[in-house]
Amino acid sequence: MAKKILFIVGSLRDKSFNKELSEFAAEDLKAAGAEVSYLDYADVPLFDQDDEYPTPAAVTRVRQEVVDADAIWIFSPEYNYSYPGVLKNLLDWLSRPLKDYDFGGPTALSGKTVALASIAGQSAGKGVRSKLAELFSFDFTKNTLVDGEGTGASLAPEAFTTGVNTFSEETKQALAKQAADLLKALAD
Ligand SMILES: Cc1cc2nc3c(=O)[nH]c(=O)nc-3n(C[C@H](O)[C@H](O)[C@H](O)COP(=O)(O)O)c2cc1C
Repeated sequence: MAKKILFIVGSLRDKSFNKELSEFAAEDLKAAGAEVSYLDYADVPLFDQDDEYPTPAAVTRVRQEVVDADAIWIFSPEYNYSYPGVLKNLLDWLSRPLKDYDFGGPTALSGKTVALASIAGQSAGKGVRSKLAELFSFDFTKNTLVDGEGTGASLAPEAFTTGVNTFSEETKQALAKQAADLLKALAD
């Protein structure tokens, strides 16, 4: 059966460079026979523990998509050397139990294989990738991180004003290797 890889882009921006980065990885995965889909989570509400139950419909939907995936691959911008709030909000919802009040029970993220990538400024997303790697290293979700902090790339300085970035061969090759490593991890 084809492996299902769910992409989560940490930017809601229409012309997101991280979405663009993800498209190279999608090509690599599809060429190797995997299925790729994108998680649409723009309608997930801000987490408020007062409104956790009944679970909002958008949250039930995104949790199910994560449960149904063999792996998730996060492509995220770096905001202030960390993760964007929208992404953290999504991960917070995903980290809560699938069954109401079943604390200690499984979450959508439990046991999930995870890959990370980022395109950002000079830091190549080191800040966001290391914080995400830390988040997925906590024992309670028992995640397997493929290639650790994953692929990082820096935007060409003019990309910030032109909205156009040229992705280097080195970045494309790093993504291809990561895609191969991810599929290998799922096959093991
Ligand atoms: C609030 C905010 C904070 C940012 N902080 C950083 C940062 O700490 N490091 C960095 O390399 N780029 C930073 N950037 C620049 C983003 O990496 C850049 O805008 C990137 O294109 C956003 O990703 P996207 O194109 O996928 O939306 C920041 C941008 C915003 C809007």
